[in-house]
Amino acid sequence: MVLRILFPGLFCSLFLAGCGNDTPEETTKPVSNEPISLEDARAVYTLNCASCHGPDGTLKASNAADLSISTIDDKKIEQTIRKGNDKGMMPYEEMLTTPEIKGLVKFVQTLRK
Ligand code: HEC
Repeated sequence: MVLRILFPGLFCSLFLAGCGNDTPEETTKPVSNEPISLEDARAVYTLNCASCHGPDGTLKASNAADLSISTIDDKKIEQTIRKGNDKGMMPYEEMLTTPEIKGLVKFVQTLRK
C-alpha cells in the first residue's frame, strides 16, 4: 500500500484493474471475479506483500508469517488477505480487487514447500 502511494503511475501501468473504480474506463469494463493469472499475482505479491513476507514467503519481516510453512486453507488465506488477522497482518480488502485477492490465494500456495 505504501508502494501504491509512492508509485501510483507505475502501479497503474502494471495493473490497470487496481486503479480505482472512479475512472470512466473502469465502469465500462465487464465485472469478473475470476482470479488474475499466477504471473500477475506474483507481480501484485511483489509490490504489496514481499516487503514483509519476502519473495519466497520466508522473510518474516515485521513478524510476518512464513508462508512456505503455512497450512491454512484457501478460504482462510482469502479471509486473512481481506480482513487481516490479530497477529499483525493488515486488511487488503480496500486496496486490492477480488480477482487480485483470488489470484494471490493461488500464488501464496505456490510458495509452500
Ligand atoms: C507489513 C507487513 C506485511 C505485509 C506487507 C503483508 N503481510 Fe501478510 N502477514 C503479516 C503478519 C505480521 C502476519 C501474521 C503473522 C502470523 O499470523 O503469525 C501475516 C500473515 C499472513 C498470512 C497468514 C499465514 C498463516 O499461516 O496464518 C497470509 C496468508 C498473508 N499474511 C499473506 C499476505 C499477502 C498475500 C500479502 C500481500 C497482499 C501480505 N500478507 C502482506 C505481515 C504482512
